[in-house]
Amino acid sequence: MGYFQDRTAIVTGGASGIGEMLCEELATRGATVIAADLNLEGAQSVASTIIKNGGKATAAKLDVSDGDAVRDLVIGVARKHGRLDFIFNNAGIGVGGEVRDLAPEHWRRIIEINLFGVISGTSAAYSVMIEQGFGHIVNTASLAGLIGSPTMTPYATTKYAVVGLSTSLRSEAESLGVRVSVVCPGFIQTGIYDSSTFVNANKAAFLKQIPFKLMDARAAAGKILRGVERNRAIIVFPFYARFFWWLARINPRLLSPLSRKTVNDFHRARIDTAGQDGSTRSSVSSIAD
Ligand code: NAI
Repeated sequence: MGYFQDRTAIVTGGASGIGEMLCEELATRGATVIAADLNLEGAQSVASTIIKNGGKATAAKLDVSDGDAVRDLVIGVARKHGRLDFIFNNAGIGVGGEVRDLAPEHWRRIIEINLFGVISGTSAAYSVMIEQGFGHIVNTASLAGLIGSPTMTPYATTKYAVVGLSTSLRSEAESLGVRVSVVCPGFIQTGIYDSSTFVNANKAAFLKQIPFKLMDARAAAGKILRGVERNRAIIVFPFYARFFWWLARINPRLLSPLSRKTVNDFHRARIDTAGQDGSTRSSVSSIAD
């Protein structure tokens, strides 16, 4: 029997991008999927596509920054299905910009979703899984959780924390029968680039400078599930992500030229260039930009 056959899996952020493809690929492998997302309509559409194709899925509205709601969903799913085999804490948002331009609200929002969302999902599922004596927690970080990522500092801050949370918990959890993996992809073709906030920068100009071809989200989901099946601690892809991670472990200074290029590119995409030399503080755009 396959690793995912007849298993129950919650996928947060399951309405779009990597989460949507995880839902579909899990269902294809025989799992019952709960697609949980802020975007209920999107999650429902993912669930109906799965059902149409003969799989098992339901949709749930969930804001991962609401810890009580996360706990209620996790406990509800475990009760209804008699078990919870997997939670993919995948929901996340992006905030780009230079730190000098960021307001506290930019930081708070991304920490609430990308970090506290994962903490809430991990804690709730962990209690259930300890009681069962089995289960696998899969947290989505990013390559930005393994190497410094200038102009995406709040994002990198949350993703480094998710790596720390997951790799630390892994050994504690192992002794209780629970597995923990963390996923660190490079650039994947999803809606996150459209929905991300870019403070003080021309989004299109900035995105044009991404030096790599975006990977297909379904291929990314396949890589993730293969890593989960092998119980990898840290799942890193594609090849350039593994290469940069390797360089960073040898000596982080090897990444300095790339980091400098990223900052220079960002300066070219800045809307307000008055503060480039650090002497003038630029205006801060709204979080809704
Ligand atoms: P996406 O924007 O396509 O999907 C994210 C989903 O999360 C959306 O359906 C959105 O509605 C949902 N979401 C946002 N805030 C939420 C909240 N508070 N509660 C519940 N759901 C919420 O983005 P993508 O790329 O599929 O992102 C999935 C994860 O992968 C994120 O954690 C992201 O940081 C991570 N990642 C993405 C990469 C990429 O290049 N696309 C690279 C590395 C990591």
